[in-house]
Amino acid sequence: MDAQTPVPVPPPGCPAHAAGGRIPLYGPEFAADPQAYYAYLRHYGPTAPVELAPGVEATLVTDYPAALQLLQDNGSFRKDARRWRAFNEGLIPPDSPVVPLLAYRPSAMFADGAEHLRLRQAITDSMARVDTRLLSRRTEQISDYLIAQFSSRGSADLLGDYAKQLPLFVFNQLFGCPAEIGDRVLFGISGMFDGVNAEKAAEVFFGAAAELVALKRNDPGEDVPSWLMQHQARLSDQEMVYQLALLMAAGTEPLRNLIGNTLHRLLTHDAYAYRGGLIDEALDDTLWENPPVANLAPHYPAADMEFAGTKLYAGDLVMVSFAAANTSPALATARQSGSNRSHLAWSAGPHGCPSKEPARQITVTAVENLLNKLPDVELAVPEESLTWRPGPFNRGLTTLPARFTPTAPATARTSAREETAARTEQPSAARGAERGGMWSSFLSWLKK
Ligand code: HEM
Repeated sequence: MDAQTPVPVPPPGCPAHAAGGRIPLYGPEFAADPQAYYAYLRHYGPTAPVELAPGVEATLVTDYPAALQLLQDNGSFRKDARRWRAFNEGLIPPDSPVVPLLAYRPSAMFADGAEHLRLRQAITDSMARVDTRLLSRRTEQISDYLIAQFSSRGSADLLGDYAKQLPLFVFNQLFGCPAEIGDRVLFGISGMFDGVNAEKAAEVFFGAAAELVALKRNDPGEDVPSWLMQHQARLSDQEMVYQLALLMAAGTEPLRNLIGNTLHRLLTHDAYAYRGGLIDEALDDTLWENPPVANLAPHYPAADMEFAGTKLYAGDLVMVSFAAANTSPALATARQSGSNRSHLAWSAGPHGCPSKEPARQITVTAVENLLNKLPDVELAVPEESLTWRPGPFNRGLTTLPARFTPTAPATARTSAREETAARTEQPSAARGAERGGMWSSFLSWLKK
């Protein structure tokens, strides 16, 4: 902060007063009004001292040009979390809620240089083989199925009943999961995100992913795991499991929040008036103003350095606030005249999201189909009563209660049924359906 800058005044209720000068990016106050925190953090200059969870310190880049500079400089900044000094010195509480996301795993997200290129190329080449028209059709079928579960009720939680479920089902499709493995994948990943018995959930998820890898090695299909293992990068079984876990984790949680935040925007801003063409606009505005991944891109300086006026030391945790950079008042004019897609919601540089296009496509299809099937859907509670999930990384609602005119539940169309049965049905489908997991219920519905 330079000498001219007035002393920042913390937002109302901000516990900055008690956090040793570091601004906490957790707790109900932050979740209720993160933009007040970002406005406050900007007073420090392009970077600010924050606390991600009790005892976990980081430097947060809030300025758009500085964020771009960091994201594109993989010489000075590294992604390998084994460089995280505070973690190596035992200063991070092992049970801290931020450890599962920040601690090192052998995936593209934590790799640098040639190793990153190899893993990332395998991911981008495999995702590029996804047939976009088929992806839209699959997403619409899944959307129809989820809507059919609540359409006759006249009310639903569009977060828990829809936005949260749809990406998980889409990934089971992309992964060509047979019923029984798919049920365990959904159970495991949901538990890991919800933090309910997370250790057991992770065990179930990784067990199912390893089984899926073994299955695809023996019996490859037209699906992402099979394409990944056929790639010239020649991934080992362990690398396969970690890249599948990365795809699922990096895909489903942000997708849930992108669908949720876009629906929230459409239901709370009359200007969009629910017309098809405006869904794209609401989506772009969400990516600018309420991005699902709010603060992430953990990086570690390779050596002591000066960055944007701040002294950083080798192994310091430095993160980017996509939400703060996007909403910088200095950008407001440029945003009107420049590209409407130059926000940082997908990050940028070598680790920027490799799946923007499928993610957009899934979101638009999910939102459009819901608005088509429930044309008079509206918020069922006052907007001010909605609450957001706590934590520094993701920006997402806890619930999105809505009401609409009840309709008879749809059944799967015959053409969809035949096509899907041909592509995804595996011998174990019937056994899984008997056990009544979410994925097997969907496969059974398709067969009706
Ligand atoms: C089909 C769905 C998606 C898939 C498969 C996917 C996959 C990935 C992968 C593999 C990475 C790591 C890339 C690397 O380190 O080289 C990544 C990064 C990222 N993705 Fe996505 N993603 C999806 C959806 C989304 C959505 C909906 C958003 C939010 C708008 C998003 C935002 C990001 C961001 C901000 C990063 C950088 C994170 C960081 O550096 O810490 N992604 N994504």
